[in-house]
Amino acid sequence: MQIIGTGSALPEKVVSNDMLAGFLDTSDEWITSRTGIATRRLLSNDNLGDLAIAAARQAVASSGVDCNDIDYIICSNVANNYVTPSLSTIIQGGIGDECSCPCMDLNGACAGFIYAIDIAEALLKTDRAKHILIVCAEEPSKFCNWHQRETSVLFGDGAGAVVVTGGDGLLARRVTAKSQKDVLYYKRPLETTPYDRSTENAEPLVMHGRDVFRMAVQGSLADINALLTESGLKPDDIDFYLLHQANMRIIKSIREGLGQEEQKFPCNLQRYGNTSSASIPILIDELTTEGRLKDGALLMLSAFGAGFVTGAALLRWGKAA
Ligand code: UT7
Repeated sequence: MQIIGTGSALPEKVVSNDMLAGFLDTSDEWITSRTGIATRRLLSNDNLGDLAIAAARQAVASSGVDCNDIDYIICSNVANNYVTPSLSTIIQGGIGDECSCPCMDLNGACAGFIYAIDIAEALLKTDRAKHILIVCAEEPSKFCNWHQRETSVLFGDGAGAVVVTGGDGLLARRVTAKSQKDVLYYKRPLETTPYDRSTENAEPLVMHGRDVFRMAVQGSLADINALLTESGLKPDDIDFYLLHQANMRIIKSIREGLGQEEQKFPCNLQRYGNTSSASIPILIDELTTEGRLKDGALLMLSAFGAGFVTGAALLRWGKAA
């Protein structure tokens, strides 16, 4: 597969660390030094469906593909207001009346973009589709308990999208999962029934930060090193490492584990916080818009998240032949 179009959309509301310190027992100093985050964008008067559609439209427009030539829409999303219908069908309705392809949502947590790439590659390889729209749209701010400083300061909302088609741009990929449900979870409330009136199961996001930190660094380094070995490459051969934007200290640990310079690790975490699976496609769209991704550049993508899941993809950047 090859990426031929990109797009992104973020909420209008910019929330600084100082604004959070106005109602939480936290500080700009703590958040900046422990995470690298200075501001995040949070949904307020806007909604996730509209962001997802805006990112999708940009990706389709920049790909040059007609929206009725999109053969599949995959949306990566952890949770949103609509449990059903899927967000991907809502996106389909927003990109054009002519579009009537199959749609599906997947929950690969923060690694959802890499999981979507893995599935898209399989659909392209088996001729089930020629053009696939992948949209990662996330609103993690809605899972947090906003009285808890441990989680609410970390996240931001946003959407990133790509259009992919057949090509030789995906050199290697790896996705993993190892059941670990207690380190990072969010339990959404469901309706009560005459037979089950329990509501105590619902719980805002719970995260054991230090465990997640350790698993993230170990998992990412294992994935990246596996793809480098499989491809006969060294860390120095990679032009850009596009890592899930969760914490600057996680990115630094992975970078040091690979012995690489800071310039190879572009970040938007400072401005957007952790936007879950949307973080890597938003970053790709920004780098594309800034003209920083040259044809032939080698990109290593790597992400991790609740599950515990990880995923990495090695891409050679460039338009499909
Ligand atoms: O997309 C995947 C999702 N998650 C992640 O990738 C997160 C991975 N983990 C992390 O990024 C880090 O573990 C955190 C940023 C969540 C926390 O950083 P840490 O250096 O591991 O801090 P800690 O949890 O060990 O807490 C240190 C102290 C504690 O106080 P005491 O016990 O030392 O008195 C916390 O209560 O910092 C306190 N603390 C805060 N203080 C001010 C925790 N959150 C805050 C806060 N403001 N927001």
